[in-house]
Amino acid sequence: MAEVDEVVPIFGSLKPVYGEGSLLDEAQFRYDNLKAKFIELYGTEPDVYARAPGRVNLIGEHIDYEGYSVLPMAIRQDTIVAIHKRNSNEERKILQIANVQSEKYELCTYSADPDQDIDLKNHKWANYFLCGYKGFHEYIRSKGMDVGAPVGLDILVDGTVPTGSGLSSSAAFVCSSTIAIMAAFNINFPKKEVAQFTCECERHIGTQSGGMDQAISVMAKPGFAELIDFNPIKASDVQLPDGGTFVIANSLAESQKAVTAATNYNNRVVECRLAAIVLAIKLGMQAHEAVSKVKTLSDVEGLCVSFAADHGSSDALVAVKEFLNEEPYTKEEIEKIIEENLESIMAGSPTSLAVLAAATHFKLFQRASHVYSEAKRVHLFRETVMSNLSDDEVLERLGELMDESHYSCSTLYECSCPELEELVKVCRDSKALGARLTGAGWGGCAVALVKENIVPSFILNLKEAFYQSRIEKGVINHNDLGLYVFASKPSSGAAIFKF
Ligand code: GLA
Repeated sequence: MAEVDEVVPIFGSLKPVYGEGSLLDEAQFRYDNLKAKFIELYGTEPDVYARAPGRVNLIGEHIDYEGYSVLPMAIRQDTIVAIHKRNSNEERKILQIANVQSEKYELCTYSADPDQDIDLKNHKWANYFLCGYKGFHEYIRSKGMDVGAPVGLDILVDGTVPTGSGLSSSAAFVCSSTIAIMAAFNINFPKKEVAQFTCECERHIGTQSGGMDQAISVMAKPGFAELIDFNPIKASDVQLPDGGTFVIANSLAESQKAVTAATNYNNRVVECRLAAIVLAIKLGMQAHEAVSKVKTLSDVEGLCVSFAADHGSSDALVAVKEFLNEEPYTKEEIEKIIEENLESIMAGSPTSLAVLAAATHFKLFQRASHVYSEAKRVHLFRETVMSNLSDDEVLERLGELMDESHYSCSTLYECSCPELEELVKVCRDSKALGARLTGAGWGGCAVALVKENIVPSFILNLKEAFYQSRIEKGVINHNDLGLYVFASKPSSGAAIFKF
């Protein structure tokens, strides 16, 4: 079978995913505990388990939803979903979703109706399961398949990806839920289809996310970072050079992507769309055509590049500098250019309307400049990895690209925060080759590229310079430090277990 058509793997033991030694022992403990709690709660064993990992994005931030490639790797932290499908003749046709951390995450119950709405105003942890449930049914229907009338599902979840940390705990949860549901119905699909539709699943939570997190969670391979392309989704292995390690450090500022969507994440998606439409018009497209056809900055890159070519360059940024104002735009200014009311062009998208209701101005120049330059950095990163420079030179250059990426995220895209700025500075002062925020930003983690031989002293420095004062203030407990700062190796993608 061609690699692109590989389905989600089904294993009879934990070893192919968790390897050997202490990681395997730790995993075995989690699965045994999950099974025991499941039986205690539901009086029966799970039929099947699914796991999906979190990820750290090495470079390519906030460009996946603009159609550009990104370069993440899976981390070992994951979410495991144990599931039991009830028989169709059983009375209780409901979804029961519990978590092993029952003191933190209460048991949630939903109807088994796949067409129910998710109550976005009342954010509950288990809503992410519902995203997977709804998305699974939508996808099945779109393929003309039928899984019969709704039945009850019993679910127990165990997650180790820290939430609100920019490491994609939400994608790990949505992907493991969706795959567990698929497995409970004895259905499997090629990974690239699962990557695509789990991304659509997660949009039910109200964020207009791109597909990076789900793609890497489903398609990751141990030992490799992946260059993820979109439209269509494709993952190409990237072997990182020897001698460097990625260290992940949590800024301890929680990034609540779904809750702050209207002013942060979705706001940037809308700003990029408006920047793309304005650029298209300035570059000669009729306003009505631009509004109906142009969705992302990658849609107008060709026009920008032809303009640049006429001016002796190949860089889309030449057009951005020429046609977009650095001053933020008011809504009225944009409406004048695009000859339409913003509410009417976003009418089909309640989450975009929420952005318009919350925004006072739009920074089109800055957002477009970030997206085009960041897209270029991803390719430079990959080319550097594949170049015949020495490992040391490669690592130096990758570090510089990460620093440039952070600067762009911070100043142009404005998705950093004071804690992340402090942490990134501490990383650089502690001899990282490069450091940047990772994931959506506005809190969460930084990722630093560090020479392997200084990792222990690097982590020690971070503990002293960043975490010690937070331990003293009682923000975190000293014994939990390992959860907040750790070195990470590229880990495996999603899997199903039937024991
Ligand atoms: C979140 C989204 C991704 C991506 C990143 C920013 O993690 O889910 O699709 O846009 O933010 O790069």
